[in-house]
Amino acid sequence: MKAIVLVGGFGTRLRPLTLTTPKQMLPVVGVPMIERVVAKLAANGVTDAILSLGYRPDAFLEAYPDDRCAGVRLHYAVEPEPLDTAGAVRFAATEAGVDSRFIVLNGDVLTDLDVAALWALHAERGAEATIALTPVDDPSRYGVVPIAADGRVEAFIEKPPPGEAPTNWINAGTYVLEPSVLDRIPAGRKVSIERETFPRLVEDGSLFALQSSAYWVDAGTPATYLQVQLDYVDGLRGQAEPAVHPSAVVEDGATVEHAVVMAGATVAAGATVRDSVLLPGATVGAGAEVDGSIVGEGSVVGAGASLRDLTVTGLGAEVPAGATLVGARVPDADA
Ligand code: GDD
Ligand code: MG
Repeated sequence: MKAIVLVGGFGTRLRPLTLTTPKQMLPVVGVPMIERVVAKLAANGVTDAILSLGYRPDAFLEAYPDDRCAGVRLHYAVEPEPLDTAGAVRFAATEAGVDSRFIVLNGDVLTDLDVAALWALHAERGAEATIALTPVDDPSRYGVVPIAADGRVEAFIEKPPPGEAPTNWINAGTYVLEPSVLDRIPAGRKVSIERETFPRLVEDGSLFALQSSAYWVDAGTPATYLQVQLDYVDGLRGQAEPAVHPSAVVEDGATVEHAVVMAGATVAAGATVRDSVLLPGATVGAGAEVDGSIVGEGSVVGAGASLRDLTVTGLGAEVPAGATLVGARVPDADA
């Protein structure tokens, strides 16, 4: 089985973390997000993953110099310019010579979805494309997908205004596609699979969907990037993973509560880190408080500073001693 993994986006919602590192190379409890995604693919029988790259492709090429990741063979398709989700699929499939039924996934989704069940439904229905659906509380930031009793998709509504979604079942970002779908995607320009390709397939009655309540999180926002990591240490995804890396230093008199502390990070005496993530080499100064926030790689939180409500600091960013940051980005994401 071959899978095209879309990892070429700019990851704007995760800035400033993604100003230096593409979203899917950010660590999730010490392991690059892409590696977690590809390991799940391997467990589902995928042998070859084609990484559809655009933004900062070198980060992936350098991380996997022998073109293997979690036991899967990697292939790379680097877009000359962003082609959006369907354009990226067409480009990657052409580059890698994909000519039979294949899988596509959004590379920022961490899920326990049963891909074999999706593949089986696709074959049973004789579908041209079949997508996995997951239930969420607020469908407005996703692709909303009402279906008939037999799984036929009735509409595909990408990011409807709040309160206007006809169902809370949304596109979970894993698809089984026939090669004929590629012929529907115009070449050489941006094409959105959500806004162009799926609505056309709906019109032809050839798009099906499988509802699944398996674990599912799109880790593409600060809130969800934080949540998936706490889920790993809380044991929601198999055996609980250690929250504090053995090479991290938590000084006597520091409090680390329900937080991920990655390799080489330091928490000084009197500091408190709660419901948060410290990336490798981050430093939290004496008496500082980090609550529900993300401290970037090598970033320094000054003594007595307070970070709360999804504050995010970027690579090497410094927070002055005594500063109070609430829901802030350092440096400012739009700068
Ligand atoms: N190669 C390439 N080129 N990849 C891209 C491009 C591009 O131009 N644009 C986005 N991607 C990649 C991103 O890196 C990400 O892995 C994936 O495509 C989806 O993009 P996001 O920006 O994360 O989309 P989203 O989260 O707002 O919405 C999508 O995912 C939801 C589920 O997580 C849509 O597919 C929704 O319908 C869906 O519900
Ligand atoms: Mg996403």
